[in-house]
Amino acid sequence: MCGIAGYIGKNQASGFLLDALKRLEYRGYDSTGIAVLGKENTLNYVRSVGKINALEEKMKERQSDGCIGIAHTRWATHGYPSEANAHPHSDCNENIFVVHNGIIENYKILKKELIKNGHKFESDTDTEVIAHLIEEHFKNSLEETMLNVLKFIEGAYALAVISKDDPEKIVVAKKSSPLVICIGKNENFIASDSSAIAGYADKVIYLDDDELGVVTKDDYKIISITSNNKVQKNCCKMDLDVAKVQKGEYEHFLLKEIFEIPEVIKNSTRGRMIPDQGLVKLGGLEVLDQSKLRNINRIIIIACGTASFAGLVGEYMLEEYAGIPVEVELGSEFRYRKPIIDSKTAVIAVSQSGETADTLASLSEAKRKGALTLGIVNTVGSTIARETDAGVYNHAGPEISVASTKAFISQITVLALLTVYLGRIRDMSLVTGKRITEEIDELPCLIEKVLENDKQIRDLAKKYSKYKNLLFMGRKYNYPIAEEGALKLKEVAYHIHAEGYAGGEMKHGPIAMIDENFPSIFIVPSDSVYEKNWSNMEEVKARRGKIIAIATEGNEEIKDIADDVIYIPKTLEILTPILAAIPLHLFAAYMGIELGLDIDRPRNLAKSVTVE
Ligand code: M6R
Repeated sequence: MCGIAGYIGKNQASGFLLDALKRLEYRGYDSTGIAVLGKENTLNYVRSVGKINALEEKMKERQSDGCIGIAHTRWATHGYPSEANAHPHSDCNENIFVVHNGIIENYKILKKELIKNGHKFESDTDTEVIAHLIEEHFKNSLEETMLNVLKFIEGAYALAVISKDDPEKIVVAKKSSPLVICIGKNENFIASDSSAIAGYADKVIYLDDDELGVVTKDDYKIISITSNNKVQKNCCKMDLDVAKVQKGEYEHFLLKEIFEIPEVIKNSTRGRMIPDQGLVKLGGLEVLDQSKLRNINRIIIIACGTASFAGLVGEYMLEEYAGIPVEVELGSEFRYRKPIIDSKTAVIAVSQSGETADTLASLSEAKRKGALTLGIVNTVGSTIARETDAGVYNHAGPEISVASTKAFISQITVLALLTVYLGRIRDMSLVTGKRITEEIDELPCLIEKVLENDKQIRDLAKKYSKYKNLLFMGRKYNYPIAEEGALKLKEVAYHIHAEGYAGGEMKHGPIAMIDENFPSIFIVPSDSVYEKNWSNMEEVKARRGKIIAIATEGNEEIKDIADDVIYIPKTLEILTPILAAIPLHLFAAYMGIELGLDIDRPRNLAKSVTVE
């Protein structure tokens, strides 16, 4: 969590840094700060509690013309969100300033030692020890000192450091938290991810773990923290449209991203299907020896949060159509178990950010045990994308809203592609392959139709925002969508309590909660479990519960039982989760708006959960 940025070059640093912080705000937003090295080698800093506009206001009073600076947006791990705990943190003499994303696990021991040596601490954070350690051990240059100091540090970090004692540079370092350096003309940029830099420059270097970078106005060098040797790294071209990281005509990123979904599906599937041959081509997997893929006898999908619900839909798809046993595991659980894995197990990490700490740690464990590791990742160049043996990018574009919507839909779409890919190299018939790929091809049009319900969903949000609880239910392919609908509502309309359940589980407990004040949302497309869902709706009705149904167009009888109906077009059963999730995403967004909440940046959350 947390976002960091840095600038060194011909312009005033604060312009880029504020812009970058705004783009990184999705990574954390309880406090922010900036430190700039002025022309006279003065170090000015401003820190503020709350979102970036509060910092911007403060900066008006304390302008700095410096061309070297670092900045931070925080998601608190150690210490309250207060000004004292906001980054940048400094040493005793305010000569050295540090911004940090990650957790220094052994900070307490280090702090104790530093206090013994006379250092004065101002904050409760783990980060502050880094500034004092640099002060304590400063010798020759900032990079030499950091190479030395980083050897004492345990934990995760993406760091950017500036110092009055070695002023013409920013020194950065990475371990387990993402960091990119972007190369411009007479200026260089640093950020937690490339979306913060889009439009400023387009040559990016993704730092790997245990690498330190020395970034000056016209140059950079990368050094291995473990060997102290120089590392040669290639620049990648950043292919990111700056419009994708701006709200455009929308008031909220969340709504913009939901309305982008038809385009997202096109981008996720472009060039990947040959419908008349019922085939899927996934370039990212074709690099593998195909017999390896044919020999897989088990798949474990690892993910967290929303991505895990996409994984669950994938489990149903892959088992039914590719005939491979699949389990879905939460990264936070899997990493601490003793999973049974062999070389015929494929472990698929599903992650929008490609940086989720628990997913990443589980993946490393699976790799160590000899599994074939694959990724379904949205963020190009992210750690998971680089750590896996092979994988498929989502091409959903940057997702800025903290709540995941378009990436989730893209994850299910890619899992459907993977199902056909793996199915066709096994027993899936040409007819089935054709049927699925042809229907995937139709999805953008079908989704446009779902989005036409926007006004109706907004009105429903007005009607239901007065309730305090909501139950989401679905069966089979739409059980994970019930979970997703509830999670999304919890995230963006957090004054309302929501639970997602498999419809068949209702009688095993949740039915006790149902009465006229506890509405339910049923996902009931006309599929193989329609009748079963109907019985569950009857049970809710018998207890005076209100029902919103997500049903297939043309189903008129549903109006006899549901108080409100949102229709989705007809499609194959395995693709119904894609169409059913979108009204629930819209519903959550409008509920949040009704409650007056910041739906792009809900309290207590951060987009990339890079700490466990
Ligand atoms: O970046 P990832 O897909 O790995 O993130 C996983 C979860 O943290 C994420 O899906 C989270 O649950 C979202 N806030 C859901 O909207």
